[in-house]
Amino acid sequence: MAKKIASARISAESSRLLQELNNSLPFDKVLFREDIEGSRAHAYMLKEQGIISDEDYQKIDKGLQEILLDIEQGKLKLDGDDEDIHMAIEGELTRRIGDAGKRLHTARSRNDQVALDFRLYVQKSNKKIAALLMETIETFVRVAQEHADVMLPGMTHLQHAQPINFGYHMMAYASMFKRDYERFMSSYERNNYSPIGCAALAGTPHPIDRKITSEKLGFKAPTLNCLDSVSDRDFALEILFNIATMMMHMSRLSEELILWSAAEFKWVTLSDRHATGSSIMPQKKNPDIPELLRGKTGRVNGNLVALLTVMKGLPLAYNKDMQEDKEGVFDSVKTALLSLQVLNEMIADMRVNKEAMEAACMVGHLTATDLADYLVKEAGIPFRDAYHITGNVVNLAEEQGKDISELTLEELQRIDSCIGKDVVEMLDNRASMNARQSEGGTATKRTLEQVEHLKQWLSTQK
Ligand code: ARG
Repeated sequence: MAKKIASARISAESSRLLQELNNSLPFDKVLFREDIEGSRAHAYMLKEQGIISDEDYQKIDKGLQEILLDIEQGKLKLDGDDEDIHMAIEGELTRRIGDAGKRLHTARSRNDQVALDFRLYVQKSNKKIAALLMETIETFVRVAQEHADVMLPGMTHLQHAQPINFGYHMMAYASMFKRDYERFMSSYERNNYSPIGCAALAGTPHPIDRKITSEKLGFKAPTLNCLDSVSDRDFALEILFNIATMMMHMSRLSEELILWSAAEFKWVTLSDRHATGSSIMPQKKNPDIPELLRGKTGRVNGNLVALLTVMKGLPLAYNKDMQEDKEGVFDSVKTALLSLQVLNEMIADMRVNKEAMEAACMVGHLTATDLADYLVKEAGIPFRDAYHITGNVVNLAEEQGKDISELTLEELQRIDSCIGKDVVEMLDNRASMNARQSEGGTATKRTLEQVEHLKQWLSTQK
């Protein structure tokens, strides 16, 4: 049976079942660093403001540092009956230093304390994920630069559409991960305000200075309104949304990698480090890694929806429902950090099969649009007529078992005499790709411009 250190009114010991439902220590113990960091800043402020004595502050600060070390070295286990990490640390401190420990909770509540600890954790996680995203973007940009002239069929509806290059395709993902990076960084900025000192919900009559704690903890400023600050979990929702969006991008890429490594494509080969075998079929090499990255989107989406649901009906200010905010965030952050590292390694090690990609460009008459465009531009034919003439050319190619890029001038002119000899060259896949020179287009030259742009951007973020 647990001894309650914070229950002036409750006389009976808690039931085991209540503890099992109520205690968050089993999962919020991962916040021990943030809890101690927050308490040290709070104690410092109390001393600066003359609310506790210098002597008590010294004891508290030394005690907290020793507790931190003991937890890190495994000498102090956080597996007792304490309700949560805040009670566990405060209790341990008081056991070690006596009465001075009991002064630490002056002018604060667990409501602002947990808001602080959790926010510190989320802020650190924003930075960690952003740093890994930078590495990921670098990898994509490098792979893009190396493959800016490797052609593949660009698709819509998963049907061959127009020739693009693999670097261009990689730059599409680099652009998504850049937006992801910016989302984590902007969440960091928006939420970089300190809630400590808000106490239970209404502030405190003690002469505290919230600027001191805010500054010591690296925040921009104290939050504006205490009632909001103890009940705000937007910062947690934002990281959950940011992770879900990032994982959605990763999942789309994973889907492509899974397809591309199938025998029907063979466009990429994942390194043996990132493939697994089958227990029964000796010949198999399975793309488990992209499958797992795709599968992990399920849990991170779930975590976002779960917290949105927890928060939606809560009156101000703190409600115990909010204790349900943490596990999903811990899970999503862990998933994001691991997934990004794996993705980065997998993309860096992946082999791009140029021959298979380029051979695939000979299927599906990828340059048909170029012919229609030519007839409009060079022969003044209305687009709808040009569209039909091109359709006849495609039919002829099909009959001959060829791609339209393989038709001879004579064959083309049999369909329409307006077709000049420059068309033969123009129907070549590479010429078609390089003709798409509009800004943001796939021409190798434009792709390399995009590479340069992101390289430049990367160098300004460091
Ligand atoms: N363990 C609690 C949580 O995670 C800490 C805050 C408790 N506050 C309270 N008034 N019971 O939300």
